[in-house]
Amino acid sequence: MTAIEQRLAELRREIEEHNRRYYEEAAPTISDQHYDALYRELRELETAHPELLTPDSPTQRVGGRPLEEFAQVRHRVPMLSLDNTYSETEVAEFYQRVRKALPGREVPVVIEPKVDGVAVSLFYEAGRLVYAATRGDGVTGDDITQNIRTIRTVPPRLRGDDFPAELEVRGEVFLPKSGFAKINAERAAAGQPLFANPRNAAAGSLKQLDPAIAARRPLDFFAHSYGLLTGRAVGSHSEFFRLLDEVGIPHSQRLWSAHDVAGILAAIRELDALRHTLEYETDGAVVKVDDFTQRARLGLTSKSPRWAMAYKYAAERVETRLRNITIQVGRTGVLTPVAELEPVFVSGTTVARATLHNAEEIARKDIRIGDRVLIEKAGEIIPAVVAVRAELRDGSERVFHFPEVCPSCSGPLVRDPEQVAIRCQNVSCPAQLRRRLQHFASRGAMDIEGLGEARVEQLVGDGLVRDIPDIYELQAEPLLALERAGEKSVANLLAAIEQSKAQPLWRLLFGLGILHVGATGARALAAHFKTLDALLRATPDALQRAHDVGEVVGASVHDFFTNPANVESLEKLRAAGVNFGERDPVSDQPTTGASLADTRWVITGTLSRPREEIAELILERGGKVSGSISKKTNYLLAGADAGSKLEKARTLGVQILDEAGFHALLNGGGDDDNRTPFVVMDEKKSPPKETAAALELPFGE
Ligand code: IVH
Repeated sequence: MTAIEQRLAELRREIEEHNRRYYEEAAPTISDQHYDALYRELRELETAHPELLTPDSPTQRVGGRPLEEFAQVRHRVPMLSLDNTYSETEVAEFYQRVRKALPGREVPVVIEPKVDGVAVSLFYEAGRLVYAATRGDGVTGDDITQNIRTIRTVPPRLRGDDFPAELEVRGEVFLPKSGFAKINAERAAAGQPLFANPRNAAAGSLKQLDPAIAARRPLDFFAHSYGLLTGRAVGSHSEFFRLLDEVGIPHSQRLWSAHDVAGILAAIRELDALRHTLEYETDGAVVKVDDFTQRARLGLTSKSPRWAMAYKYAAERVETRLRNITIQVGRTGVLTPVAELEPVFVSGTTVARATLHNAEEIARKDIRIGDRVLIEKAGEIIPAVVAVRAELRDGSERVFHFPEVCPSCSGPLVRDPEQVAIRCQNVSCPAQLRRRLQHFASRGAMDIEGLGEARVEQLVGDGLVRDIPDIYELQAEPLLALERAGEKSVANLLAAIEQSKAQPLWRLLFGLGILHVGATGARALAAHFKTLDALLRATPDALQRAHDVGEVVGASVHDFFTNPANVESLEKLRAAGVNFGERDPVSDQPTTGASLADTRWVITGTLSRPREEIAELILERGGKVSGSISKKTNYLLAGADAGSKLEKARTLGVQILDEAGFHALLNGGGDDDNRTPFVVMDEKKSPPKETAAALELPFGE
């Protein structure tokens, strides 16, 4: 094996291992940045040596280029649906029917969660994933192989060597609840419309023609059945699940078995009681005859098998009164009508407000102030007004009129041509300003402690801040006059504002709240353009060429930076001394471009800041960060409590730096004296803890 082949194998193994820790154990041991760095290194090596590329490399999960349209796949065996019911009596009748058709026998059944995802079919031949398709009309579906390859738990190759010759496995692609919350937080931060529930988000992700988009959504997959299985004898559902375990295909771990009606209903109720605690949305229980010979006897109807039935849990709906409709003005000026409700308890929480989405929605459902309305938690997450009890009206209800001007600043409103959104156009609208400022100061952006919702409210309300740059002009005196503002908190706030000037460029870019630019987009832009001035000069074309940016984001960034009001604000920020990318945020020295291009780094031990931030400094300068030391490693950056990596680095003669040495290197100190002042502070073997901050969501709110 050549050195390159060795490194490739090592990277693939390492990435697969991190995939497993991330997805199967939900216990990642490295940061996302670190993972991305490993991934990037692998991709670059493979690009340089295409002859060494293998179809089962983790990079092949993010297959190729955006498609023009999806090819169509004809399912080898039609994908049926399930008979379903909301009634326990009908479940009992189903089981009695089954017993009657199989006289004189025990009929064991299995009960498992009905995963509320998107049905897909995966076809493995000789152990390799050949294609993946959506259900479509049950006969033909869309070929979504590229998107499925981005799902880290779907193996591109089956484990072991005793796998079925052909296996067309079926299951659900879903977005775990935590991933859903994260994506919506990112979308909110980037001013994009939110997904109503995880199912929609998963379906939307699979419909993307560009696999890079699906790759950014933390999708997951559970198998629940198969269409075709040859080369291995499997006699029952339980055996099928054992086969899945053997070959490495994920399935739900919740499985009950029963052999009478009482047992079935008990399982259904047990699942109902615990389903809110599962990481995926479950909208029912599926009851299936376990034994395949018995299934064959029962047969199919044209639409569904006679050997299975889905029991669906009714979405909890409650009735309450709509007290009022108010308008919320978002950071980007979008006006959202909000239902102010008489508080009610639904699916585990008290709901007092619900979104009404937009004016069309109110008109379509004819929702009036004072109405009795039905509230439901869509996908158990976002409360929505689903219907109006019009028959209960007494004439006192009032039709809601959408405002003609902004309720916050009385500025003119415009309707977005593509969306149904209505927007306030006034850049200095106080409601927008409050939200923009909150976002700017938030933990994921400029991270200004003490500048939270309440303080922002005061600053904007008292006219102390009329635009974001004004915060850098704040003086102690007027602040001390505010309520709940003592000497100490004012001093802390001013210090935090001062410190924020040195934040890295991406945090500023994210904090500006450019439409469609979330934390990831901001990082990509900062890494590519390096300085804000380069961004200000960039043409839409140049913006779109930046890795990971794309058309929509590029256009939005260009619009933002050509808007005279924004340019004026930026000049004020520059004058205030905010880092526009030409200084190192740590040392506050000019970044003389100390390039780390082509250097390989490993970071270990406890450092003064989260490891991912340090990795960022290396990545920004063109270096590579990896998780394990090899002969190729140029530098080990070691903090306190560095363990085995330190020893290995010494054995291999890798250059070892402490934090001070690292910063000296970044600041252009090129001579050897600067590079080796390493002192081992404590040689305890305790593995370095990943700091909490490294695993946090990128958003404060
Ligand atoms: S078994 C013949 N098991 O629900 C179909 N389906 O509403 C056999 N689903 O088309 C499917 N969880 O996409 C089965 N544990 C589960 C399921 C499940 C979700 C989906 C499946 C099916 C749809 C019917």
